[in-house]
Formats: sequence, C-alpha cells, structure tokens
Amino acid sequence: MSPQAQAISNLTIFLMLLGLLISVGIVGVLIYALIRFRARPGQEGEPPQTFGITRLEIAWTATPFVLVTLLFFVTVSAMQHSSPGQISLNDGARTEPRITIIGHQWWWEIRYPSGVVTANVLHLPVGQRWVAAIKSVDVIHSFWEPQLGPKIQAVPGQTNYIWLEADRPGVYHGSCGEFCGAGHAWMLVDVVAEPMAKFKAWEQQQMTSSLGSPPAGFTASEATRGAALFGHYSCGSCHFTAIGPPLTHMASRSLLAAGAISNTPAHMEQWLLNPDAIKPGVHMPNFQLSELQARDLTAYLESASAPQSASHSVASHWLVWNAKSHTATLTLVAGYNSALSGFNFDGYGKGGMVISVPAGAHVNVVFTNKASLPHSAVFTAYRNVQAASGGFAPAFQGASSPNPVSGTTPGQKQQFTFVATKAGTYALVCAVPGHVQAGMWDVLMVTKSGAPSIKAGKAAM
Ligand code: CUA
Repeated sequence: MSPQAQAISNLTIFLMLLGLLISVGIVGVLIYALIRFRARPGQEGEPPQTFGITRLEIAWTATPFVLVTLLFFVTVSAMQHSSPGQISLNDGARTEPRITIIGHQWWWEIRYPSGVVTANVLHLPVGQRWVAAIKSVDVIHSFWEPQLGPKIQAVPGQTNYIWLEADRPGVYHGSCGEFCGAGHAWMLVDVVAEPMAKFKAWEQQQMTSSLGSPPAGFTASEATRGAALFGHYSCGSCHFTAIGPPLTHMASRSLLAAGAISNTPAHMEQWLLNPDAIKPGVHMPNFQLSELQARDLTAYLESASAPQSASHSVASHWLVWNAKSHTATLTLVAGYNSALSGFNFDGYGKGGMVISVPAGAHVNVVFTNKASLPHSAVFTAYRNVQAASGGFAPAFQGASSPNPVSGTTPGQKQQFTFVATKAGTYALVCAVPGHVQAGMWDVLMVTKSGAPSIKAGKAAM
C-alpha cells in the first residue's frame, strides 16, 4: 500500500521465484539421475567412479557466487527504496514532514510537527511521504505496519527512522512486533490514511480546546462530575505527562487500551472499572470506582474533546494547592510537546506560562524531562533572562533541579522543594547553556497574598 512496502514485496516475490527455479532445477536433475542411472538387472559391483571434472567444479562454484552477488544488489536496492536509513536531525536537504512515534509499555505516543499529541491511532495524508522518528522510553518495542513498510525497532536511547506513506485511503492495522512484556499483544497501532483536506480538518479539530458535548446517553452534569473525579484521582499526573497515553480528544480515536477493545462509552466504563481484566499487566491501577463514578468519568472522557492538556489551556492539575500546609505542588514537564522544538515547560516557553503563588508558600516541584536533550528547572531573578551573560542563580534556597547546568537526562524525574520567600517577578528557566536563548523560560509571580494560579500568559516572541 506504499512504495516502501512495494519494494519489499517485489524483493520477496523475486527471491521466492529464484528459489523456486533453483529448487526445480536441483530436484529435476536428481530425479533424472535416479532414473537414468538406476541399478539394472544383471549389473554387478559399483558403477565406474569419476573424479575431478574441472569445468563442472568451476560451474558449481561460479553459479552460486553470481547468484549471491545478484541477491546482494537487489536487496540493497530494496533497502534504499523502503527505508531512509539513519537521518541526521540537522540534515537540511530533507524536507519531509517529521513525526515522532514513541513506544511505551504498552501504547504508542504519536507527536506531530503541529504540536498535536495523540496515541495509538495515527492519521496520515495520502500520497505524502513522512519521516517517522521511532523511539522508546522503556524497553525495546518494534513499530510494524506490514502494509506500509518495514518493521523497525524502537530502542531506548536511540532513534531509528522509517518513511510513512500510504498510496490509498484506508485504515491499516499494525502492532508492536517485538515481545515487550505482559501487554505486548495489546500494543496495536492503526494508521488512518486520508486525503490531505480531511487530514488537515482532523488536525484542526485536535487543536481546538472547547469541551464538546457528552456522548449520547450521558448528561452534561455527569461530565462535570467526571471532570472533578479526573482531578480527584490525579489522572493527569500520568495522562498529562506521557506516562500514560494523552486523553485529549479521546472520543475521536477508534482504539481503547492500545487496541485491547474498541473505543465506545460502554467499553470505557468496563475499562475504568477493571483495567486489568481487559488488558492484563496494564500499568493503570484499578481505582475501585463505583459504577456511577465510572459512568461520570466516561461522560467526561468521551466528550468530544475532553480532557484538556497543557498544550491548550493550562490545566489546573499542573498546580495543586494545599491550603492547610500552604504548599503548591507544581508539575513541570520539560519538552512537553514540540512547541519551540521541545524547548518548553509544559508546552510553554518564552514567558508563555505564568505561575503565581503567594509569598511564603512552599513549592514542591515535580520535574520530568520528556525532551530528547538534558534540561533543568531553575527559579531565578527575572532580569537574568534578559541579561546577555551570567548564570541563573536560584532566587530562593533550593529552587533548582540538581545539576542545573548539565541538566537532567531525558526520561528522568526529579523533585525539589523551596519556599517562595519574597514577593516579586521571577523566571523559570532551563539553565543548560543556550536553552534560555532557545525560548525555554516561563514566569513565576510571587504575590503578596491571594490564591495560586497557573495560566497561559502572553508569550514574548
Ligand atoms: Cu511493545 Cu511489544
């Protein structure tokens, strides 16, 4: 269904035909010899023995040599037509749109250049060749869309590349092609190939942030209660940080639990009530929800575009305030999406996100680096952002992730706590050299009093 798959198919058919021809030749000569030189009545002792026919020996050495050489060249040619090989990220000659596909136990994260992040169902415009960077965050997986091209391993710490292209519209079923743990069998991936206009419409829809109406048979009040439950159970601490699949526009996907079941409201309820019964080994815990709670959550999750993640409006789950202990728990994800080429916190940079806490608040930062480069999180004086040189000294004691200059390695999670002692305007920066220049900074307001908040601000472009 693609030029890449066609090249592999052609090679396979050629090899099969060549193999068949050789088999027929060998078996044919064998049968001929068995009949022609069989023992006949009256024949005594061994037949005459022949040794050393130079012409024959040259022939049976040269023929396989020529055949194997031929196979080498046709295979290399098929590889060239089916795979882009290792690509340098800075290779300006390559103009294909780039998509990132990340294997997780047990689902696929799909990141588009537009910033759209989705899971398990990959939309692709027909007839356009995309480059897909294949990665893994845990163990070795293997991305395999048999109708569209070669199988390729998703290896932690290494990026492999394939071309993704489909000649005709349709839904192509794929799966993880390498045993990766208990959930391996339920790590499916569907490619939805559609005309460019339809793809663009899908992408636009994925970027809209309005909360749609609840699914048929559910009420708006159920969806509202579901949203509260979503916050209560901290679902966002996995689903907004790519530990679990993103749920934004969940209702627009055909697969649930990476293909263990189809995505319908009824299935969603069953799934929420007992995930392990549907997908043994799944990392999502069983929250022992009541049937009513599962129904409320379903109303919310299956609403046309719920729930929102930070790439749209900043989610309140990023900042959780405990009034009793005067503590704000702040979730920071470096490289949350492809905004500013990954130089962002929670999808925001260049001052685009404003965090407010009252003076004297304890701030407990949960910092995860989801980018492909080391990053750090430091709260520093606001003027340091504008200064041409100079470091990013923490403005408060302990207001920095460990090793701020060398940064936290990709995939790592770190926690640090500080007290926002003095009111004023501060900057949240990544102190790895060059990263602030790339836009990796946001704003922290320490107010005299009042409630903490987290908002999308006006980005300083
Ligand atoms: Cu992932 Cu098998």
